[in-house]
Amino acid sequence: MAKDSFTVGLGNNDSLTRKLAEEDYVKFWEKEAEKLQWSEKWSKSLEWDPPFARWFVGGRINACYNALDVTVRKNGKKPAILWEGENGTSRTLTYRDLLDYVCRAANTLKSLGVRKGDRVTIYLPMVPELMVSLLACARIGAVHTVIFSGFSSQSIRDRVSDSKSKVIITADGGFRRGEIIKLKRIVDEAISDLDFVESVLVLEHAKIPVEMGRRDKRWADLVNAASNICEPEEVESTHPLYILYTSGTTGKPKGVLHGTGGYLVHVNSTFKWLFDVKDSDIYFCTADIGWVTGHSYVVYGPLMHGATQVMYEGALVYPTPSRIWEMVERYKITVLYTTPTALRMLMKYGDTLSDSKDLSSLRLLGSVGEPINPEVWLWYFRVIGKERCPIVDTWWQTETGGTMISALPGLETAPMKPGSASRQVPGINVGVVDENGKDLPPGKKGYLVIKAPWPGMLLSLWGDDEKYKTVYWSKYPKMYYPGDFAIRDEDGYIWMLGRADDVLKVAGHRLGTAEIESGFVSHGAVAEAAVCGIPHEVKGESVISFLVLKEGAAWDIRLRDELVQHIRKTVGPIAVPDQFYVVSKLPKTRSGKIMRRLLKAVAKNEKIGDVSTLEDEAAVEEIRSAFKELEREIEGSKLR
Ligand code: WT7
Repeated sequence: MAKDSFTVGLGNNDSLTRKLAEEDYVKFWEKEAEKLQWSEKWSKSLEWDPPFARWFVGGRINACYNALDVTVRKNGKKPAILWEGENGTSRTLTYRDLLDYVCRAANTLKSLGVRKGDRVTIYLPMVPELMVSLLACARIGAVHTVIFSGFSSQSIRDRVSDSKSKVIITADGGFRRGEIIKLKRIVDEAISDLDFVESVLVLEHAKIPVEMGRRDKRWADLVNAASNICEPEEVESTHPLYILYTSGTTGKPKGVLHGTGGYLVHVNSTFKWLFDVKDSDIYFCTADIGWVTGHSYVVYGPLMHGATQVMYEGALVYPTPSRIWEMVERYKITVLYTTPTALRMLMKYGDTLSDSKDLSSLRLLGSVGEPINPEVWLWYFRVIGKERCPIVDTWWQTETGGTMISALPGLETAPMKPGSASRQVPGINVGVVDENGKDLPPGKKGYLVIKAPWPGMLLSLWGDDEKYKTVYWSKYPKMYYPGDFAIRDEDGYIWMLGRADDVLKVAGHRLGTAEIESGFVSHGAVAEAAVCGIPHEVKGESVISFLVLKEGAAWDIRLRDELVQHIRKTVGPIAVPDQFYVVSKLPKTRSGKIMRRLLKAVAKNEKIGDVSTLEDEAAVEEIRSAFKELEREIEGSKLR
């Protein structure tokens, strides 16, 4: 039998931190807050007006100052970013370089009329200018809202319309798997009739021709000419730092709104407890800044600690699958933070790939975004980390701002169990409860909840306090509901068991089933659509779709290809289903809810016995016949 726990630490053994946190979590976070630079100290650590939390009220702080100036004052020559492009080009930026660049960009934004509290949309590839743009916003108190550069024009349109950004920062193009994605063109399409957008700042990165319109300005023209001095705007601790859109169970993505002081405290402390990055470290987080992992653990966390990090634009397996291991060797990366999807993909190529590179610099490994299978965990531990490196499997969400559950080698040496995210972070109060909110005994599957506010907690949903209340605080009125299933074992270790709601995790990306379904029905040939996720060897989950076509629409390869293009455009390439089934009607409960678990079971080729107990007992017969019918129909709709 495989060993069920491993103890590999960094030699840190601080038991006091957990003790303090258990005694009084508010006081505890207050002590953590003292580690940052505030221009004015707070008067109240926490104002808790459920479900709205305001941390460090009365305090004033600037996120960019904490991220850059603090290190520049000590050692401006310290490299901040070792950037590498997919085609092998590289750039190094020190903390001083970064600060100068950020100030120029901040002054540029000011010259475009951006003021404190204004929103700026950023749609850039993984280039240093992406980090510069976020920090430039933070420097002047503007609210950044980053859209991952893999998103479609329709997604940009929805997000820009919601945030009412008057400035958009983009690039001519970005590189991915040897191809150039024409970002500026996608933005043009997205905002053609959004008149409130005053300026589009265009970075020339891919050096491809772009059409420049009335609102468009070249990044280099403005930024190079701007002054490199820009005083940081000291904002209230609760001032919004950013909006980041994420998928939920309803159609449109939600704008998760994060504050400044509390968020920075959470990220600063967890970055230390997770990775304990020192001057000698080279840190590499493979997440794109377009996701929350990039905001917290590429931008703010590492910079607040004066870390040196590798930043990479492109695919990890391009031009060859050993790219990432070559990078570990080339930069002597010590801390690697990546996703289970990337690991499953790399694991498929076999051990010779990684064995042929020198990985001896690695000292700590991290995983984020989806459950990591025990066998993948063990591969990471043995083959990549050579059983020397602790593994941090970090559970958190866009909404939580920072890590909530993880092993914390920067704090303590504790056994790691492959497949478990370990224990709650100090100062976080996590529980596993039943349908009624009652604590479950160890070993019982239930819903994960968070029982007290925490500093990185979202302020609200942008422009929609009501939705914020219903999405997160209505299942259990006094507890935050993240939407995940979990088990807590005898040792207090949490085992994450995937989403409990209609949210999918495809290659670690969060997708709402409703979002994809409305993408489908916005196509002229589709009357009704239902999608579900089924397990996938590499991506964790893959999207399966069931479609009811409109009268007169014929199912053929052409229509399928058209629908693929349509979903790419309306939702994004990650949302494109792996399978399409055409049916005459969707199986629904009497109350009209799509029986998604039934769809899942049929797509997974399960037996009827596996689903008949899942739903309301009275509906078993109905389910049984719907199942049979569905089986017959999907067989008929396969395209050969
Ligand atoms: C959802 C949040 C964490 C930041 C990036 C993703 C799933 C996340 C883990 C993990 C099992 C995980 C959950 C969560 N998830 N990390 N270590 N183990 N599941 O943030 O896109 O907001 O997604 O990702 O289902 O609710 P996100």
